[in-house]
Order: sequence, then structure tokens, then C-alpha cells
Amino acid sequence: MDNLKNRAEISAEFIRDWMGVKPDTAIILGSGLSGFENNFKNKREINYSDIPEFPVSTAPGHKGKLILCEREDEAGNYDTSNDDAGRYILIMSGRFHHYEGYSLQEITIPIRVMAILGIKRLIITNASGAVNENYKAGDLMLIEDHINLSGDNPLIGPNFDELGPRFPDMTYTYSPQLIKKIKEKADKKGILLRQGVYTFMTGPSYETPAEVRMIRTLGADCVGMSSVPEAIVARHSGMEIVGISCITNMASGILDKPLSGDEVIEAGKRAMLSFSEIIFIAINA
Ligand code: HPA
Repeated sequence: MDNLKNRAEISAEFIRDWMGVKPDTAIILGSGLSGFENNFKNKREINYSDIPEFPVSTAPGHKGKLILCEREDEAGNYDTSNDDAGRYILIMSGRFHHYEGYSLQEITIPIRVMAILGIKRLIITNASGAVNENYKAGDLMLIEDHINLSGDNPLIGPNFDELGPRFPDMTYTYSPQLIKKIKEKADKKGILLRQGVYTFMTGPSYETPAEVRMIRTLGADCVGMSSVPEAIVARHSGMEIVGISCITNMASGILDKPLSGDEVIEAGKRAMLSFSEIIFIAINA
């Protein structure tokens, strides 16, 4: 962990200099959502590979760059009256997955970096398969809670005391206040937004039909291969978290056909428009 702590501190120092400003909101873009940053006009970007000690992503659909941009409201106006913190947003386009061969500690280095940089609100996006049979491919779901089925935890190892406690509370992992605000705004705009429980499996193999039945019995609504380690580490540092999942497919065994990774990426791209709307609502909630 000392090594991880050093790595996070080295990356953070570099990014702080590169940014020159102090954003308080960050977004992690999941599968198929890279390109969302094109919604913002004033931006600067840097490849992960140019940041010292930062991990590098290898998953398809994940480009791997950090983007600094100016916050816009839902109508596309810049709020120049905001202070520095409120005026800028940090975007991680491309994330790290356990299935790429990194430990949970390693894939969450960027979250430690964000905590060191003073990020207060983290918007986590992902793609998932619906376990809830009432859901449909293309639906969006606000993550209300999660189940970590990986049998591992990114906080295992010496505690990073400056960032948070040894035994962090996880009762309000996903901000209930923000869920309420975002849901109200989405309802007003007529955007269907589900609320449910996300289950983290390591992948990279998709679940079996029996695993999907188990996950449903456990009380979850969807399943995916990311986000939960990030949420655990972000919550440890006291960040306010919003989780938005794009349901790209029905989970294994629900429909009488196999799952394909390409289909998942394509479905994510098709949902981009409503996904972007919800992200803008979350940024401004
Ligand atoms: N299972 C796990 N991860 C996923 C799925 C799925 O069905 N769809 C998108 N990511």
C-alpha cells in the first residue's frame, strides 16, 4: 500500500500542476461512453500513459485519457460566477478493470488521486446487464446500493489515514439526497430512470444463468464488472457518489440467446443521448 500511496501522490502532484485549477466534481465514463466529453466545449486532455504512476487501460471502448473541462448547465451555459472549484470538471474517459489483471487496489489509484486533489462529488457511469426482468436493454438506472460479489475489497492493506478511516461506513454509499434530486429532475423531463442495486462480478466471463438467478435472489437488479471498487474507495474518502448504469442487455439466461461484448458496446452508444442528459442533471444537481 505504501507503494500505492506513493503512486497516487506522484500522479496527483503531476495532475495538479497540469490542471492549474481545482475542480470539485469528477466523472468516470464507462464502456461506450467515451466521446461524452465532446459535449463540453472548453477542454484540455492528457493520456493516462503521460501521467507518471497512473495505470493504463486496455479494455475495448476505453480510450484512457483525463479531460479537464468547464462545467455547463443543462442549457449549455457556462456559469462564470462559480468559484474555481465549481467551474471545472475532471473526466476520466476510460477506467481500469480487475479483469485486465490489475488488483482492486491498483484500479482505484485514480480515485485516491481524486481524493488527494480535493474532488468532492464523483459521478460513476457503467454498462450492466439487467437481472431484473422488468428492465429493458437501453434503460438507465441510478445505483441505489451495491453488492460486492468479488470476495475482495480495494481497501485491504494499510489504511490511507489522511483520506479516511480504517472501517468506513457504507450505509449511504450513493448519496440519497442526490438520488432524490436527480430522480425528480429526470421525472420532470420525462426520462425513464430506474433505481436499483448493482452487483459487482469480476468478469471477464459473463455470468452463467444460474449465477444470474442467484444475483436476483440476493436482491440485485443488474450486474457488471466495474464501479463498486471505485465507489468503496471514493466513499472511504467521504466523496458524494452518484452511480448511473446503462442497461445494455438482459443478463445471461433471461433471453434465449448468448451475450456478446460488441452488442454491449453498441447498446451503450445508442443510449448515449439519454445517458448524457442524466449526467448533466447529476453534474448540476
Ligand atoms: N454482465 C456483466 N457485465 C456486463 C453485462 C452483463 O450482462 N452487460 C454489460 N456489462
